[in-house]
Parts: sequence; C-alpha cells; structure tokens
Amino acid sequence: MITSSLAERLRKTQHVVVFTGAGASAESGIPTFRDALTGLWERFDPAQLATPEAFRADPSLCWGWYEWRRNRVIQAQPNGAHRAIAELSKHVPKLTVITQNVDDLHERAGSQDVIHLHGSLHSPRCIDCGLAFTLPLTSDVLPEDGRRIEPPRCCVCNGYVRPGVVWFGEMLPEDAWSVGLAAAEGCDVFLSIGTSGFVYPAAELPLRALGHGATVVHINPVRFDISSQEHFLQGPASVMMQSLLREAFG
Ligand code: APR
Repeated sequence: MITSSLAERLRKTQHVVVFTGAGASAESGIPTFRDALTGLWERFDPAQLATPEAFRADPSLCWGWYEWRRNRVIQAQPNGAHRAIAELSKHVPKLTVITQNVDDLHERAGSQDVIHLHGSLHSPRCIDCGLAFTLPLTSDVLPEDGRRIEPPRCCVCNGYVRPGVVWFGEMLPEDAWSVGLAAAEGCDVFLSIGTSGFVYPAAELPLRALGHGATVVHINPVRFDISSQEHFLQGPASVMMQSLLREAFG
C-alpha cells in the first residue's frame, strides 16, 4: 500500500537512488538466484560456474552457461518495473540507478548511466590481457542451459574471452562501487527493489543511505525484517513501482 507520506517524500526529493536485484528482472522471465524452483542455482553449483577458478578449470561449461543466460536476456523484454524506473527520471531532479543485475533491461527501458556493480553479460573481455570483446547481439543458436560452448579467443593474445561479470571472490569494479556508494550516501530517497540483500558489499548500500538520513523503501513480494526507520512495499516490482509513480505524480 503506497502511503501518501511516501508519495509526498518522492515529490519533494532532490536525489533518488534506485537499487535493483534479480527480482527487478523476474517479471521479464529472467530467473533469480535464490528463489526456490526457478532459482538459477537450483540447476547449477555456483562454485562450478561463477568463480575465476571454475572458468579456468572448465571454460566451455562456464561460457555455455553465461551464453545461455545472455541469450535469455536477448529474448527477454523490460517489464513494468524497468519502465517505471525509467519514467521516474522525468519526475525527479536527480535519479541514480544502481543494479546488481548483469542484464541490460534497465538500459533497454530507457534508464541511462546505469551503475552495474556486478558487471554485465554484454561486456566480455580477455581473461589474460583484459581486452574488451564484442559479442553478436543476436544468436540463431539458443544454447540449452548447461550446454558446453568453447569461449572465443582474444585477437591480441589468444587468451580465452570470459564473461564481463563479477565472480564470487572478485572485487567489484572500483568506479562502479565508489560512484554507487557516493550516490547512496548523498540521496534522500533510496528504493531497494527485488534483492534478497544477501550479497555484500552491494547489500551495504541501503544501510549507508539510511545512515545518511535517506528514506529507505524495500520493494519485494516476500516480506523480510527491516528496521523501524525503513519502509516496506510488499508486492511485485512492476505493480509497486507503477503504483508509487501514480500515487506520487498522477
Ligand atoms: N518483484 C520484486 N522482487 C522479486 C520479484 C518481483 N517480481 N520476484 C522475486 N523477487 C525477490 C525475491 O523475493 C528475492 O528477495 O527478488 C529477490 C531476488 O534475490 P536473489 O535471487 O538473491 O538476487 P539478488 O538479491 O539480486 O542477488 C544478489 O547475488 O548471486 C549473486 O551476483 C549475484 O547479483 C547477484 C547477487
């Protein structure tokens, strides 16, 4: 239920941060990581796929999984949450979108300068020399999940091309983290949408915003514990974000 005070806060805000997790893309058909039944991890062992060691041990299995995920994103469409977040930027003086997601659905809905804390499926690079690699945006062969695909080779050093995502045990991109942290500490409204808040340091951002006096709102169909100073809008991201914009801006 969108309270009038929350809508009022949004109307008066100078700087909103929208912080998204896999739940923001769930209604586009992209499985989340930890939801039972659909969670991506249910079918794969994370240690098998999302670490530098795993890639070096079995590049084809790892690359095949990420190509399957990339193709699912190519086939997907932004949902109402992505569109409402893009729409929000027209109503507030400043909006910063920070995402843990590695898809490009925010950008395809119209959001600009999206901060990707965990990288992107669309920015692969050479695992040895770091040279960026461009992948075709369409693929006639939709790899089934779990199919092995030999990764491409770097045209300069012949090293394997790796997914442009942050793997477990790796540092977040320095600039993404510092810009995201500054936005969290400088905003007056922080909307945390579709994240379980399990993975740090990303999960620290709502706490930093709260510590700097922002109004923090969690949007999730699954209720979880929050502090008394935070707000919770229980429901799917597309429904809650569209209601919030309607209540605040008509
Ligand atoms: N709208 C909003 N939230 C939703 C929806 C929806 N339609 N459907 C599911 N959710 C919520 C779930 O209740 C859950 O709290 O989205 C959250 C998804 O949580 P995770 O699967 O843990 O995804 P996320 O929080 O983004 O994970 C963070 O962990 O594995 C790493 O790098 C990976 O970026 C990822 C990070």
